[in-house]
Amino acid sequence: MSEKGTFYITTPIYYPSDKLHIGHTYCTVATDTIARYKRMCGYDVMFLTGTDEHGQKIEEKAKAAGMTPQQFVDNIVEGKGGILDLWKLMNISNDRFIRTTDDYHVEGIQRIFKKMYDNGDIYKGKYSGMYCTPCESFWTESQLVDGKCPDCGREVKYAEEEAYFFRLSKYADRVRELLLTGTFLEPASRVNEMIKNFIDPGLEDLCVSRTSFTWGVPVDFDPGHVVYVWVDALFNYLTALGYMNEGRDGKEKYWPADVHMVGKEIVRFHSIIWPAMLMSVGEPLPKKVFGHGWLLLGGGKMSKSKGNVVDPVILAERYGVDALRYFLMREFPLGSDGNFSNELLIARINSDLANDYGNLLSRTAAMVLKYFDGTLPAEREEAPEDAELIGMASGLREKYQKLMDTFQTQAALEEVFKVISRANKYIDENAPWVLAKDKAKAPRLASVMYNLLEALRICTCLLVPFMPDSCAKAFERIGADEAVRNWDSAAVWGSLPADVTVKKGDTLFPRIDLNKELAELEKLEEEARKAALPPLEIEPQLEECVDFDTFLKSDFRVVKVKSCEAVKKSDRLLKFILDDGTGKDRQILSGIHKWYKPEDLVGKTLVAIVNLPPRKMMGLESNGMLISAVHKEKGEECVQLIMADDSMPAGAKLC
Ligand code: MSP
Repeated sequence: MSEKGTFYITTPIYYPSDKLHIGHTYCTVATDTIARYKRMCGYDVMFLTGTDEHGQKIEEKAKAAGMTPQQFVDNIVEGKGGILDLWKLMNISNDRFIRTTDDYHVEGIQRIFKKMYDNGDIYKGKYSGMYCTPCESFWTESQLVDGKCPDCGREVKYAEEEAYFFRLSKYADRVRELLLTGTFLEPASRVNEMIKNFIDPGLEDLCVSRTSFTWGVPVDFDPGHVVYVWVDALFNYLTALGYMNEGRDGKEKYWPADVHMVGKEIVRFHSIIWPAMLMSVGEPLPKKVFGHGWLLLGGGKMSKSKGNVVDPVILAERYGVDALRYFLMREFPLGSDGNFSNELLIARINSDLANDYGNLLSRTAAMVLKYFDGTLPAEREEAPEDAELIGMASGLREKYQKLMDTFQTQAALEEVFKVISRANKYIDENAPWVLAKDKAKAPRLASVMYNLLEALRICTCLLVPFMPDSCAKAFERIGADEAVRNWDSAAVWGSLPADVTVKKGDTLFPRIDLNKELAELEKLEEEARKAALPPLEIEPQLEECVDFDTFLKSDFRVVKVKSCEAVKKSDRLLKFILDDGTGKDRQILSGIHKWYKPEDLVGKTLVAIVNLPPRKMMGLESNGMLISAVHKEKGEECVQLIMADDSMPAGAKLC
């Protein structure tokens, strides 16, 4: 074991119900950055992520996709462009990946459920209440907001069934105490939320089994029941370490977890239900739950159903994984919500990475190459004006550490960039291009260059957890070998050898043309949105045949719209006066106002069936029916009139 000890950090396990978006990526990148930071500091880190694959939502989605639930989740987790591919692309350094359909986890959950049952904390009862299928959550009436799910705002359904219950109420006092003492839940603002919204109103026992669907971990001593997904999901943090199963190991070494990183909407599960269940099975509690904020889009939550998700793959492939990782950690403080926009992303990459850091790196390396052929000479001349830069860079690690240890990743990056800005200013103050003109000033020029390289090296050491690949390239460029790329050397000014040799290299972060890219991204996002739309719902064709003579009795004609207006007191009906080729006006009423403005239809060539018996609607006679195409899109009915070519004469018969 490392001298520093172990550090066990987790992300939530993700629902493989859709492709993951930038919000999920934010959560995983934040956890990865902290895991990498802790490894860099010398901890023996266990970083766990995975997928939460059971539940009614997955069962329903799989059915709609014509697959078994297992095939459905396999595809989203392991298929091309799936979750594993996304984490590989984003350079996520997890040590383990758990799937709740893994045999060892399923066995573990069955034993855990039985253990809680045997110790009297799970009992059989009857559940009736409101259930939100997308969130897999039961809610009491008082918890609903405007009658809808308080987490996602969607409709809830009344559900009633025989079920097992967990005695959550029994643990209310101990959980309250846990929340109120120490720093179990952070940021601190989330503690009040939990106490006020959940503990104070009184914790009710929790329904922990379902019988209305089968895609879950079966309760082995009562067939027909499956374990509630949140019990199944939360215990992943322990089964992944071999708790109650032989499939994994490491519990003795890594449990209790140092931190569970979770989004704010699932803090309730992690800071109330999870500790209570751990108390029930007699296991030590995690040291911390950190509830991060959401990445919002246009002020609201991203969600596939709103069609406003941002695809991390598009952004990472266009601007680089590291630039995207950097942006996510630099733009928003971890505990708060942040509004994502492409404009912010590009502006941040341009200002911090292309201008400040990238420029400092390329200018410094280029000058060492130009003035010293790449290798600094031994002779030096220090000057008092070096002190500020040296002082800032030397003290940077200490400031950074305090911030990183409290998950203030944004502020830690700010500190690093203060040194980078100072170094850029140092170039302007010392004007190396002027020093280079005078041979006698070569020692001074060498000192200036060395100071810049050292400042760059220290900053790069501390940027590694955020942008691992780009930092490796930067180290190459400034001639920093392995021995001076690490945590220890980040606190030691002067670690680069005096005769350091820099290398040529490509621009690390090319400048992005903001307007061009914004337009391009909008186009790509629109295409992605269209591709993600559910297939159109088209009515199945009738199986019953109609005989030809009967069909011929229907008289379909081309008609031209002479006038069209809304029918008073009806929000549905339009009144058409049509030329049907007979020389006499034909009046037809049609319930299509929702889809058409009357003025847009005047002059159009349409198709009508003209030998239906007359029908009265809103006191007006309708003689026939206009023919439309009808389908559903996202559950909404869409109606489109059949428009014929204008060259077709009114009255032409369709056959
Ligand atoms: N399966 C549960 C977690 C079980 S953990 C024992 C779940 N899955 S999820 O896929 O819906 O969400 C996983 C994580 O992604 C959550 O922490 C959630 O907050 C986070 N995010 C989802 N959308 C997000 C944003 N728009 N912004 C930031 N994080 C977001 O919940």
